[in-house]
Amino acid sequence: MENIKNSNVFILDHPLIQHKISLLRDSNTGTNEFRKLIEEIAMLMGYEALRDLPLKEVEIETPIEKCVTPMIAGKKLAIVPILRAGLGMVGGILNLVPTAKVGHIGLYRDHETHEPHEYYCKLPEPIDQRTIVVLDPMLATGGSGAEAVDFIKQHGGKNIKFMCIIAAPEGLKRLSEAHPDIQIFVGHLDRCLNEDAYICPGLGDAGDRIFGTK
Ligand code: PRP
Ligand code: URA
Repeated sequence: MENIKNSNVFILDHPLIQHKISLLRDSNTGTNEFRKLIEEIAMLMGYEALRDLPLKEVEIETPIEKCVTPMIAGKKLAIVPILRAGLGMVGGILNLVPTAKVGHIGLYRDHETHEPHEYYCKLPEPIDQRTIVVLDPMLATGGSGAEAVDFIKQHGGKNIKFMCIIAAPEGLKRLSEAHPDIQIFVGHLDRCLNEDAYICPGLGDAGDRIFGTK
């Protein structure tokens, strides 16, 4: 895991993540395979992003003797996918922490301005006491990510992590400057945005590829 210039940005350069992202990019990868890969990558990224989850000591009895041993403390994790494409990552994180609560933020990018518009927001309470992991496979201009984190903060969220599979430098800059207090986990940092604000080389439209729409 590479930390960019002592900031809160982490590039998750594990070979398994890189391999699966390459498969994801391939335009010959169909919907079924694409969904599986998104979930697997989210799980691998979650393994790193959740390494600071708080633990508590509990007493259990092994077949040999009683012992005090660490377990994840409380049910304090909330995951918040940005609709639609973030939904594809939810199963991967729930595989790791099945008791996590799930909120949703609905945002879509205007095709002309590329700016995000909110259409839905429902967060688990009490949001201020939870570690919140925002999920979106794509961080392009960073508008959607920055706005989603704004909403969560307006609702009282404090301990926020953002997880994206592919980021453009422009989006990473915008999100990390707007919210320097949050940890941002990136699977791969791509080259740039094109004139339609798509990530290059990217993987195309993540929502369409997950849900088989156009
Ligand atoms: C995509 C993607 C992000 C956003 C990234 O969603 O899933 O939410 O674009 O772009 P940005 O960083 O420039 O804001 P989209 O708006 O296409 O909606 P969808 O997931 O419903 O397809
Ligand atoms: N949203 C996507 O799904 N892909 C991009 O490249 C940019 C925004």
